[in-house]
Amino acid sequence: MRIDAITIFPDYFAPLQLSLLGKAQDGGLLSINVHDLRSQTSDTHHTVDDAPYGGGAGMVMLADVWGRAIDSVIEDGADLIILTPAGRRFNQELAQELSGARQLIFACGRYEGIDDRVRIHYSQDEYIARNIRVREVSIGDYVLGGGEVASMVMIEAITRLIPGVLGNPLSLAEESHNEEGYLEYPNFTRPQEWRGLEVPPILLSGNHGAIAAWRTSQAKERKESNGN
Ligand code: ADE
Repeated sequence: MRIDAITIFPDYFAPLQLSLLGKAQDGGLLSINVHDLRSQTSDTHHTVDDAPYGGGAGMVMLADVWGRAIDSVIEDGADLIILTPAGRRFNQELAQELSGARQLIFACGRYEGIDDRVRIHYSQDEYIARNIRVREVSIGDYVLGGGEVASMVMIEAITRLIPGVLGNPLSLAEESHNEEGYLEYPNFTRPQEWRGLEVPPILLSGNHGAIAAWRTSQAKERKESNGN
């Protein structure tokens, strides 16, 4: 999979070189390319935004600069993801769907967002004919300072679903067996007693059927007690 992130803060993405994602890039499973939006400006001040038509607070990012940046990376079959709190809510299902993509382009807006003509332009027939799809995505009902952290959340959730990226593929198999959303049962490891607290005895019973049933009920209870 090819990933391109376009941002005015390329340094935000440094952590993507760490851990399993760094390894996946070294191994050629994944290429993550971060692009500085300001490199597409032509004025001496490297301007990326301007006041909104119609008035109002804040600044809007320039369509022209974004268009050049996207044109410089976009390939047939790409998913162009525009991060915005107004977008479709990101979840595991969307992560699964996007894990099969050829190219993901993350457009990380700041301020009051990107001139909407960018979304409209790349949604037109000529892009549809090239299998290019535009999606506005939000990672949750809160407002971040920009799309950088949101796109890193998405990149981590999506890329771990690509075969070979995760260290232990059994972890993935277990997640998909729990599609009802009861994935997170409580876990314990040694020692058997810590600060007076014992590991639940059933986990030491060796009865795999009973352990599986216990875990499912615990996961359900945990989910409900957290208000989900
Ligand atoms: N940009 C600002 N807030 C955001 C959010 N919640 N999700 C995605 N992009 C954002």
